[in-house]
Amino acid sequence: RGKRAFIAGIADDNGYGWAIAKSLAAAGAEILVGTWVPALNIFETSLRRGKFDESRVLPDGSLMEIAKVYPLDAVFDSPEDVPEDVKANKRYAGSSKWTVKEVAESVKQDFGTIDILVHSLANGPEVSKPLSETSRKGYLAAISASSYSFISLLRHFLPIINPGGATISLTYIASERIIPGYGGGMSSAKAALESDTKVLAFEAGRKHKVRVNTISAGPLGSRAAKAIGFIDMMINYSLENAPLQKELYAEEVGNVAAFLASPLASAITGATVYVDNGLNAMGVGV
Ligand code: NAI
Repeated sequence: RGKRAFIAGIADDNGYGWAIAKSLAAAGAEILVGTWVPALNIFETSLRRGKFDESRVLPDGSLMEIAKVYPLDAVFDSPEDVPEDVKANKRYAGSSKWTVKEVAESVKQDFGTIDILVHSLANGPEVSKPLSETSRKGYLAAISASSYSFISLLRHFLPIINPGGATISLTYIASERIIPGYGGGMSSAKAALESDTKVLAFEAGRKHKVRVNTISAGPLGSRAAKAIGFIDMMINYSLENAPLQKELYAEEVGNVAAFLASPLASAITGATVYVDNGLNAMGVGV
């Protein structure tokens, strides 16, 4: 039987989530997607109208199929957590069952089990503020959307992940080195995500024989990254200073995710794997 993957955090064909979906699809996996509720409409419309057809092409010439797109807001665990103003919001009222618990239930109902869970989402409303000027609310929102969201996904999906399965998230080196501009508590959120990767690897490994890893990816001009505002600078910095002076392709991150999700990586868990042209290994810029 082929593997089934649920990838949370795809809303266009530019980001790491899309590239991971493609690599998994190329390796024969069935693809389910969780898309942020406010982005759902435009993503589904674009898919339907063929806007992504060119980027759906797999190495064998076929087009990646998405078996189902689920609306998802990973900052809400169950319907009781959703405040009235969000419930009433037009973009949310048009969809249903998008809290993490409900999405896991829907996937279970539709498909039974999955083998691979990918968390490719982050959000920090005050990302452009220095950490020392970040509000409590902004800091907690970054942690909620970017770190706890992974715990929540694991918590609700682990019971339907088959033994031998794998989970992957995306992190950034700002967790361990100073990257001015990655503010609002986003650096803290990534540090939490990496630490949690270890503890969750222990818990998921012992209880479910499921692996937990995170990919520390180099800079990519995704929609989320462009919103931060310094992505071109980070891409140029990497081109100038990394051991490999080449563009970093989303596909390269996708391929490592496919490897980590596969039996080839059956002894790797609790790891932060760098896919960044080696930039993390540099001590000074040259
Ligand atoms: P992206 O914009 O393709 O992906 C982020 C996704 O998160 C979007 O689809 C957005 O709709 C979704 N999202 C935001 N809040 C959400 C919520 N509450 N519930 C559900 N979905 C939500 O951008 P990118 O850059 O590919 O991001 C994917 C992951 O890669 C993130 O964890 C990011 O921090 C990480 N990463 C990105 C780097 C970059 O340079 N682009 C570098 C290192 C890590």
